[in-house]
Amino acid sequence: MDIEARIKELKKEKDAVILAHYYVDGRVQEVADYVGDSYYLSKMASEAANKVIVFCGVLFMAESAKILSPEKTVLMPDIDADCPMAHMARLEEIVKIREECDDLAVVCYINSTAEIKANSDVCVTSSNAEKVIRKLPQKNIYFIPDSNLGAYLSSLLPEKNFILNHGYCYVHNNIVAKEVEDKKHMYPYSKLLAHPECTKRVLDMADYVGSTSGIIEYVANSKDKSFIICTEEGILYKLKKDNPDKEFILVNNNQVCSDMKKVTIEKVAKCLETMENQITVDEEVRQKAFVALEKMLELAK
Ligand code: 13P
Ligand code: SF4
Repeated sequence: MDIEARIKELKKEKDAVILAHYYVDGRVQEVADYVGDSYYLSKMASEAANKVIVFCGVLFMAESAKILSPEKTVLMPDIDADCPMAHMARLEEIVKIREECDDLAVVCYINSTAEIKANSDVCVTSSNAEKVIRKLPQKNIYFIPDSNLGAYLSSLLPEKNFILNHGYCYVHNNIVAKEVEDKKHMYPYSKLLAHPECTKRVLDMADYVGSTSGIIEYVANSKDKSFIICTEEGILYKLKKDNPDKEFILVNNNQVCSDMKKVTIEKVAKCLETMENQITVDEEVRQKAFVALEKMLELAK
């Protein structure tokens, strides 16, 4: 029996649903029940009726699923798949800014640890951040951990006063403006699509800025035939599958999230067989983090 058939069998046996992010390997995306961006996957995790969730992504995603659905068993094919940016906000800094600043909301990007979420007022993803923050009554927004996304949001929401942090995604920071310019000259007829984790210089050149799902939707609805893609290369699997007549160009060879690539189809089968790599979150932390995630789901509706 091939590994895909074995996973199908195991899913039934264990009453499991497989969620996968667009950055994981194409074979893993193929065995998943739902593939999406961080927002969509968090919604699916909160709504899933299955006893077991296999999260094919990085730790903050699986942790968010556990925070939203504590009664479910959440498994990760590789428990070491982590997002470095999720660790780039500091609790002491949150405490300090809360003391110094009135009329403040601490807004954390979903790419953050459970502990950071527990100390934030609301969570956001790249596809709902503008909408969620616009609805907040507070004027001052301490946005953590991503400085690029924070700066981009502050340009969309001039009525708010953003306080930024120093976090960044190394994958998106490595999409350097000079190389993007070169690609634009080489492919002048191409549309430039960028994830908001890219630097301001790259975002300023983009024809469209949005989440992974946003980029996929943009391409689906576009009459254009050629696109320069400024995000992680895993997204090309879905883009090429849905649009065989269109051309996709990466900026360089470094658009690879090494943690997302730790998730392999063999590890998906193994975690379902053994039920190893279960996610746990301290109950006090979980309850507080739940409030921030629930508020996001509510305000993003
Ligand atoms: P999306 O929410 O757009 O899928 O992004 C998640 C992520 O980790 C981007 O690097
Ligand atoms: Fe984190 Fe960047 Fe990987 Fe996304 S692409 S999971 S932000 S390291």
